[in-house]
Amino acid sequence: MKNLLTITSMFLMLFIASCSSGSDDDDPILNPLATTITYSNTISTIVNGNCTGCHGSTPTNGAPMSLTTYNNVKDAVENRGLINQIETGNMPKNGTDLTSTQIQSFKTWQTNGFPQ
Ligand code: HEC
Repeated sequence: MKNLLTITSMFLMLFIASCSSGSDDDDPILNPLATTITYSNTISTIVNGNCTGCHGSTPTNGAPMSLTTYNNVKDAVENRGLINQIETGNMPKNGTDLTSTQIQSFKTWQTNGFPQ
């Protein structure tokens, strides 16, 4: 009888522990970080799809710099007017303009301090 009680209370403790530690992390409403725009989850995909054809690790077609790393892209936003270039449709050069959602992603990324 004493063993049964011990086992029961152990299960109960496990159950309580898993509830309190698990739910907060998985719930996107309770955890706004889950929707943060980062270089890895959003920016790199846009750049790889629209820019690295010219701004590759060895830039081609007259592009003056590479946009293949986090530091490349952050530097281009801070020092090379990247956001202005995509807002005016100057970049991607000779390509389809980025969507307003994609442009907004760059602005949000900058406002939030360039999350990796
Ligand atoms: C077809 C080739 C090509 C593509 C694709 C392209 N670029 Fe460019 N990019 C260039 C060239 C060439 C220049 C040099 C200046 C000019 O022609 O405006 C340039 C210049 C720039 C500059 C200004 C650099 C400076 O120091 O003045 C930025 C910022 C930039 N590109 C960002 C981007 C971004 C972001 C994308 C993707 C959304 C992109 N480019 C796609 C060719 C390209």
